[in-house]
Amino acid sequence: MSHFVAKLYAGKSVVITGGASGIGYAMAREFGLHGAGVVLASRSGDRLDAAARRLRALGVRCETAVCDVRNEDEVARAVELTLDHFGAVDVLVNNAAANFWSPAETMSARSFRTVVDIDLLGTFHCTRAVVPHMIEQQSGVVLNIVVTDPHRGFPYFAHAAAAKAGVLGLTTTWAREWGRHGIRVNAIAPGPTPSEGALSGMAVGRPDLPPSFERHAQRVPLGRLARPEDTAAAALFLCSDAAAYITGVNLAVDGGVSLPVPTSELPYGTGVPADVAPTEVPAGSG
Ligand SMILES: NC(=O)c1ccc[n+]([C@@H]2O[C@H](COP(=O)([O-])OP(=O)(O)OC[C@H]3O[C@@H](n4cnc5c(N)ncnc54)[C@H](OP(=O)(O)O)[C@@H]3O)[C@@H](O)[C@H]2O)c1
Repeated sequence: MSHFVAKLYAGKSVVITGGASGIGYAMAREFGLHGAGVVLASRSGDRLDAAARRLRALGVRCETAVCDVRNEDEVARAVELTLDHFGAVDVLVNNAAANFWSPAETMSARSFRTVVDIDLLGTFHCTRAVVPHMIEQQSGVVLNIVVTDPHRGFPYFAHAAAAKAGVLGLTTTWAREWGRHGIRVNAIAPGPTPSEGALSGMAVGRPDLPPSFERHAQRVPLGRLARPEDTAAAALFLCSDAAAYITGVNLAVDGGVSLPVPTSELPYGTGVPADVAPTEVPAGSG
């Protein structure tokens, strides 16, 4: 059951890079089920076709664009396709990303550049391609999918840490530049989500290491890993008129795991024992 009214995105079009898998697919599904026409843009035509078939079977109006976000011409064609089919680009979700485990001291410049090119430059290309249309229509929403970790360090993923920190810089900068055109720019930082892409990216170069996602769940105050649907629900909210006065934020959808002191590290554990009575509020404390 949805938390949102069925026609929340009726008449809107949403472009989602990397929308054929994982978190991107969950967002495409939710935008589509709430009335949006969605365009999935990524590299693998087979994967796009399979995702589009699944979405259309659910009644979602869906188009696909084979597109590498590093290639400005392919991005421009994806935007043209969206305009041809839906007449506007109301929402752009910059979700496409690459990631793989790599110790910083042996990370090659090529690895670093690959991730920065996809995550950061790709976000620039896509946004740069849609924003003139948004300025013309004096409305639009750009949503960047980032990570919370750049602020705290993202060990073994220096390329992604640098790229996503850059995307956060773009998020606030664009929010300030384009607010006067009715364009909002926000970010979502999903918590660890065991998508196929994330699991295989963590395993690169570490065949000996089982994915550590399940261990990670123990550090999440809300007690479980993230699901793609968690990010999708937040995206629906942030891109809707319910968030009309919200721009430039990075919304952590991570069960609290990025809070400065994880609950599990507090000396008194994760909660108050059942047999401890609530303390009286000391007199004079308000
Ligand atoms: N999963 C997590 O734990 C987690 C946590 C925090 C943030 N995130 C972020 O959430 C987003 C989605 O991640 P996910 O876990 O759902 O991973 P995913 O399933 O691997 O999704 C990545 C998508 O990006 C596309 N892509 C990759 N390179 C591309 C390129 N050059 N041009 C166009 N599309 C490209 C891929 O499709 P093709 O290969 O077919 O191009 C794929 O559909 C990413 O931005 C990621 O950084 C994920």
